[in-house]
Amino acid sequence: MSVKIAPSILASDFANLQKEIEMLNASEADYIHVDIMDGVFVPNISFGIPVTEAVNKHAKKPLDVHLMIVNPDQYLEAFKNAGAAIISVHYEACDHLHRTLQGIKQLGCKAGVAINPHTSVELLKDVINDIDLVCIMSVNPGFGGQKFIENTYKKVKKLKEIIIEAGAHTEIEIDGGVNEKNAPLLRAAGADVLVAGSFVFSSADPIETIKELKKIQ
Ligand code: DX5
Ligand code: ZN
Repeated sequence: MSVKIAPSILASDFANLQKEIEMLNASEADYIHVDIMDGVFVPNISFGIPVTEAVNKHAKKPLDVHLMIVNPDQYLEAFKNAGAAIISVHYEACDHLHRTLQGIKQLGCKAGVAINPHTSVELLKDVINDIDLVCIMSVNPGFGGQKFIENTYKKVKKLKEIIIEAGAHTEIEIDGGVNEKNAPLLRAAGADVLVAGSFVFSSADPIETIKELKKIQ
């Protein structure tokens, strides 16, 4: 099976969001990655619930919502209602991660956990069977267009071992600085989903760029 591609609309043209979503609908993208930043958990503010809802009106692909916010429990239902298919919360923002994951599943969404570059994958061991997707941050969250952190490969390999050992079905997603050079290496290390923001949207032909990424086996 080929790798899944989740273009991040953080790098898209917000003034032409409908056009951008239609472009993604016509592409081979598997998910649409939606980055929510609150200016507290991360030093930047992106957009929130009404914009997610507007995106969902046009999207024909599942919305992969990445919550870079404090108190995510408070907003899970709102994001579900706005159209989220996958909701990822940050490990670092959850005091009761197991409870939060159950809450996401009760809403009928897939439950994801995102981890910052400094957070060890080992910390997810005891909840790995409850997680549908782990989003390994390969940049510090908050901004698009940053440089990929090389230590990520080790984390992907280690997490893959943990998943296999637990007999879990968790997908491994990589988020930040993904490009044509690191994508095949990430896939070989065990990644299932690659988020790509600036690499897709800054390219001359985003549909073609997504197609090229999809060729990675
Ligand atoms: C970073 C976001 C990423 C970002 C990826 O905080 O979570 O999803 O949009 O953008 P690129 O691919 O440009 O690093
Ligand atoms: Zn993201």
